[in-house]
Amino acid sequence: MSIETIFDTMDYGTAPEDRSAALQWIADHGGIAGPYINGKWGPFRDDLSVCNPATGQKLAGMTLGTVEEVTDAVLAARAAQPKWEALGGPGRARVLYAIARLMQKHARLLSVMESLDNGKPIRESRDIDIPLAIRHFYHHAGHAQLMQTALPGRVALGVCGQIIPWNFPLLMLAWKIAPALAMGNTLVLKPAEYTPMTAMLFADICAQAGVPRGVVNIITGDGSTGEALVASDVDKIAFTGSTAVGRKIQDSTATSGKSLTLELGGKSPYIVFDDADIDSAIEGLVDAIWFNQGQVCCAGSRLLVHEAIADDFHSRLKVRMDKLRIGDPLDKSIDVGAIVDPVQLTQIRNLIAANDAGEIYHANISVPEGCFYPPTLITGLHPADTLMQEEIFGPVLVSTTFRTQSEAIEIANNTKYGLAATIWTENINLALDIAPKLVAGVVWINATNLFDAAAGFGGLRESGFGREGGWEGLRAYTKQSKPILPPLAIAPFTGSGAAEEAVDRTSKLYIGGKQARPDSGYSKGVYGPNGQLLGHASIASRKDIRNAIQAQSSCGWGNTSGHQRAQILYYIAENLSAEAEGFAKRLDFMTGNTTGTSEVESAVDTLFTYAAWADKFEGRAKSVPIRGVALAMREPVGRIAALCPDATPLLGLVAPMAAALATGNTITLSASQPFPLAATDFYHILETSDVPFGAVNILTGPQADLAPHFGAHMDIDSVWCFSDRDITQSVKAKASRNIKRVWEGAAREDHQSWLEAGTEIKTIWIPYGE
Ligand code: NAI
Repeated sequence: MSIETIFDTMDYGTAPEDRSAALQWIADHGGIAGPYINGKWGPFRDDLSVCNPATGQKLAGMTLGTVEEVTDAVLAARAAQPKWEALGGPGRARVLYAIARLMQKHARLLSVMESLDNGKPIRESRDIDIPLAIRHFYHHAGHAQLMQTALPGRVALGVCGQIIPWNFPLLMLAWKIAPALAMGNTLVLKPAEYTPMTAMLFADICAQAGVPRGVVNIITGDGSTGEALVASDVDKIAFTGSTAVGRKIQDSTATSGKSLTLELGGKSPYIVFDDADIDSAIEGLVDAIWFNQGQVCCAGSRLLVHEAIADDFHSRLKVRMDKLRIGDPLDKSIDVGAIVDPVQLTQIRNLIAANDAGEIYHANISVPEGCFYPPTLITGLHPADTLMQEEIFGPVLVSTTFRTQSEAIEIANNTKYGLAATIWTENINLALDIAPKLVAGVVWINATNLFDAAAGFGGLRESGFGREGGWEGLRAYTKQSKPILPPLAIAPFTGSGAAEEAVDRTSKLYIGGKQARPDSGYSKGVYGPNGQLLGHASIASRKDIRNAIQAQSSCGWGNTSGHQRAQILYYIAENLSAEAEGFAKRLDFMTGNTTGTSEVESAVDTLFTYAAWADKFEGRAKSVPIRGVALAMREPVGRIAALCPDATPLLGLVAPMAAALATGNTITLSASQPFPLAATDFYHILETSDVPFGAVNILTGPQADLAPHFGAHMDIDSVWCFSDRDITQSVKAKASRNIKRVWEGAAREDHQSWLEAGTEIKTIWIPYGE
């Protein structure tokens, strides 16, 4: 190119990064990506090929990890775990710090390897992926150091199985490994089959950093190796990847007792209001959807633009698209690199080919042959169109318009996902009003794709559960040091005796603030210890659950302030206290115990405690390295259903109700089956305590029949299982339908865990400055 041409076009030249060191490293390691188990490499086999997607050339062979190799890795992790935990937080902090330092030292090699293996532009791996991964280890070295004082009573889970995708290979590895190690766990990690190379470099760094043998184990392979890891003897599975595989994993771990966190797909809205700084919003959009070729779980892949500016916005966006540079990922002047694999390219092409809605615009730029796809915009889509709903996972932006704020929110939330959202407006009041209304785990205001180790990341709905990063990410790698006793099912008393009172006492269900006859039309006798008939309890069924959940959905409790919630909880406590004697007698009469008085006292105390917490369970302002703030807001999980224990029929009902209400949730309680009358008496207390209709619903009847419907219901966000183990399993067996949270409780005095079960962190990023 002549100097004259350069002046005429003002075009970038090429600035290729040297790849020789990375290729040499691969050659020095036998040209194979293989397992690193118990501090040793191998076996190396050329079972699968790892390719450079930009050229299609083979980078290395790869061992396809077998069930036996996975078992070896898990055994090594198991053997190493006690010593690693016993090393203590400060000891582990030194090791994490050493890893961070070595990653920094080898940052260039890691960046080049990542771009070679994944096809992402070197600008991104060098300036985003690798620095963020390093920051993760530094940050978690600090968490290890502080664990004992900051997380009293929490200990490691044990051995973690971790499965990661191909879109951010080293960064996802860091998100998984750093918190696990910091909290004293050992692990087996499986990188994605397309992109194992930086995990290999990382294993090498672990060896150099003095990570004890067996603490970090890496196994290579595809979905079959992942399946073997899920089935293995680990204490936790942490998965990032597609919702389909996440659902499979939730199903296959349902009966295993393994902890689970899932970070899944998304179709995140990018909302541009008519007062937005349009040039900035367009630049943000480049980061939102063309960063990493759009292969980003939280990509701002759904543009919602105010109708008044839509035409102007789209035409300016097309001009910008035509300036994007696509090509060799190792060229430092490249904006868009290669798609990870021909399989993914075909998937993108097929989705676009199947679409006949809207207008499609491909960037008017020259696209290299091979695994490349041009930046693409599809305008004029309707919210229900397939491409507005399905994750494309490629450089394709779909767009629609809105007229009002409420319409923007409605369209934004019209998705099965809930991972991230972006808002562009110069009106901070508007932005902060909208942010809490979006169903998303992360919200960026006038920015996009900001990440940091101190700020939690994770989704709602079918985007998964659990948070990665920050304080909120640590609990998923720890457990209470004192295990809670499994709940015991108590067989109901039987009898054929006559009622003590002549009047028939058949208690109804309590749904939407009213006493309701069961849809089934049936009830069952409840007998006392001497076989005397105490009354009848209604038998609830699937339709009663449906009605209760509908009542929960329309009650608006989530919008009340902590102050209001506290007042109502205090009021319930006061009213229960006034009726304490009657409740105590009733409990003793029903159970044959003499603990009624103390149980009622505990229930009143629990109500007071959660009333106290209602306006004190706060979020945080995160210390993130940007000019601005990231808020960790605690939001209610939503609609909860709880299966109450038999052992303390009143307290076991009041405690989940109080914790759920305090944190802004609504709840449907399935009362203890043998002792349901404490629950049906309790709704008289609710009726006189100003509880909004639908915030609390009470069902009676066999829990074994209700539990699978709780598990399967698409509008229940979380099921709290305090009933017997088989009933819990029947919830878990259905929970993957809407990637539901299933929580099995904590000690009653562990209020922090109860409150956390009722909330989810939403991280709201607010950069500032003129
Ligand atoms: P995937 O979800 O199949 O793979 C992710 C990881 O899970 C890989 O390590 C894979 O080997 C492993 N895996 C696959 N099947 C498994 C199983 N049955 N049990 C245990 N582990 C298993 O994602 P894939 O096939 O690479 O991409 C398919 C689609 O998933 C993409 O087109 C995209 O839409 C989505 N995806 C979403 C990601 C996210 O971060 N949300 C990341 C990667 C893909």
